[in-house]
Amino acid sequence: MKKRLTALAVATLFLLMATLVPAGQDCGERLREKCTTCHYNTRICEKVGTKNRRAWKNSTKRMIRYGLKISNAEIDGITECLVSLEGNPDIFCAE
Ligand code: HEC
Repeated sequence: MKKRLTALAVATLFLLMATLVPAGQDCGERLREKCTTCHYNTRICEKVGTKNRRAWKNSTKRMIRYGLKISNAEIDGITECLVSLEGNPDIFCAE
């Protein structure tokens, strides 16, 4: 019961933060969540500036074949996050 309450509190906090943080940080969070389970962010960050929107989208689709768990509806959002790294790498590539 206590564990469940904690989970609920964490979920609520997360939702609250998701509505408050600027979009850029949100993208960083999404990329960290979806793209660093199989490899480090360096795999992605070393490609920043070399891929256009179409190339990022193709990469994302390839990652789905490898086992990345995102819905078709999320592909475009993730792609935009990846495109945005070119002007704003720190949201994901700072560490
Ligand atoms: C299920 C495991 C998995 C997940 C999750 C995953 N990747 Fe990958 N990724 C791989 C594997 C395996 C390779 C190496 C094989 C290759 O290069 O195609 C790779 C290589 C890459 C590369 C280097 C090759 C290239 O296309 O330039 C990039 C960039 C990349 N991943 C981006 C991403 C992004 C962006 C995400 C999140 C949307 C992501 N990956 C999530 C498995 C994964």
